[in-house]
Amino acid sequence: MAIFFNDVSRTFGEYLLIPGLTTKQCIPENISLKTPLTKFNIKNGEESAIQLNIPLVSAIMQSVSDSGLAIELARNGGLSFIFGSQPVESQAEMVRRVKKFKAGFVISDSNLTPENTLSDVLTLIKKTGHSTIGITHDGTPNGKLLGIVTSRDYRAGKDNPNTQVKMFMTPFDKLTTGALGITLSEANQIIWEHKLNTLPIIDENQNLVYFVFRKDYDSHRENPNELSDENKKLMVGAGINSRDYRERVPALVEAGVDVLCIDSSDGYSEWQMETLKWIKEKYNNKVLVGAGNVVDKEGFDYLVNAGADFIKVGIGGGSICITREQKGIGRGQATAIIDVAKARNEYAEKTGIYVPICSDGGLVQDYHMVLALAMGADFLMMGRYFARFDESPTKKLTIGNRFVKEYWGEGSNRAQNWQRYDMGGTESLKFEEGVDSYVPYAGKMKDNLRITLGKVKATMCSCGAISIPELQKDAKITLVSSTSIIEGGAHDVILKEQN
Ligand code: IMP
Repeated sequence: MAIFFNDVSRTFGEYLLIPGLTTKQCIPENISLKTPLTKFNIKNGEESAIQLNIPLVSAIMQSVSDSGLAIELARNGGLSFIFGSQPVESQAEMVRRVKKFKAGFVISDSNLTPENTLSDVLTLIKKTGHSTIGITHDGTPNGKLLGIVTSRDYRAGKDNPNTQVKMFMTPFDKLTTGALGITLSEANQIIWEHKLNTLPIIDENQNLVYFVFRKDYDSHRENPNELSDENKKLMVGAGINSRDYRERVPALVEAGVDVLCIDSSDGYSEWQMETLKWIKEKYNNKVLVGAGNVVDKEGFDYLVNAGADFIKVGIGGGSICITREQKGIGRGQATAIIDVAKARNEYAEKTGIYVPICSDGGLVQDYHMVLALAMGADFLMMGRYFARFDESPTKKLTIGNRFVKEYWGEGSNRAQNWQRYDMGGTESLKFEEGVDSYVPYAGKMKDNLRITLGKVKATMCSCGAISIPELQKDAKITLVSSTSIIEGGAHDVILKEQN
């Protein structure tokens, strides 16, 4: 006889929080959103090896987490998992870009050799949109620096396009450079004193490492929440799968990744167990790796016993997800979190090991974030939320009279194409588990996070909780009827026209 779960599978929109006593210290400035990412021993006062400064991570998706979004999210206190649905080397390169990031120090993306021509310069500028070109011995971003070319070095349309770069570049001996290791304010001082637009930063062998641009001086912002490692490098995660991990994991570790996550819509599998065991054995427990997704205690216990450092929860709730329709598997996200959080607490009680859980997918309203945390999630993974921002890797388009960005599921044909091309196959997916869609464009991540986290903190104040553990312990949560959901929106008034 099959097992029946008698409780209805519920989602966040069916719950509300009941306020607790808001004490005088319970003000937004006093609220800490710090939260553990990986498992730790609660009995001996150990701390998690990685603690997020805000409880948000970005989804392991092509349309969400590349190095650009990862840099911005880490600067704001969260963490991205760079998508794994790409060749190993390009994923490792994205990780490297995040680890090499230094505010104000830019890895040159436009480079040529002295033997290239003016015509190559013009083509490159068209492609990158950047007018400063590093001239290195091999045309790579970190080759030996031989000169730079800017728009002041040639007259487009007048000079012969076949002229070699070495004839018009500013050569190395005429350049002012900075030595690797100087701070941003020292670099800016040199820029100021020498009236420069660009300062190349070189290592002891004259290799180009970064450019510092005059214009970045003003845009350098304070990021008190920045999530960085002990060497002050931004932190970054990466998604892996249970098929090519023997090649992928070493390349990501070599690139400096801080944490991995096995990415699957259904993670309760022997494949994930084998992947976890292989990684833990090969790296002597030194590489951190999360696993999932699961939606119940059995799945949680299985992956924890296999060695997972955190567990990702959620099947079928994602905005672009059609897994439930296609395969009939899944569980309401709120019910899944409540159940797995209970299993996590029981495990912590029994063993002293606290294994953080991540609520993945289906968060729509900002208050859903507080509900998910109150129900026991330690941190939240979102795709749609981040896909809407300037920093996500997808195109911004206009549809009708509104700006949108593209957003597609990892289980869609569009995302899976890389694999077919990569493996030289032509067969299309048997069926899709995700859709290709648009999301409304929402501007800069930082501005949106300010509003979202402001709401999260305001709700925590109402609940009388100044930290996530306090919220998890003391929140009062109620189910709501469908009629009271209607009561919760504007009702029985005639809304003025909205622009
Ligand atoms: P969202 O924040 O509601 O957009 O959900 C994002 C989550 O959906 C991801 O973190 C994945 O867990 C999940 N997801 C991503 N792509 C697919 C897909 O193609 N099918 C099903 N689920 C997906």
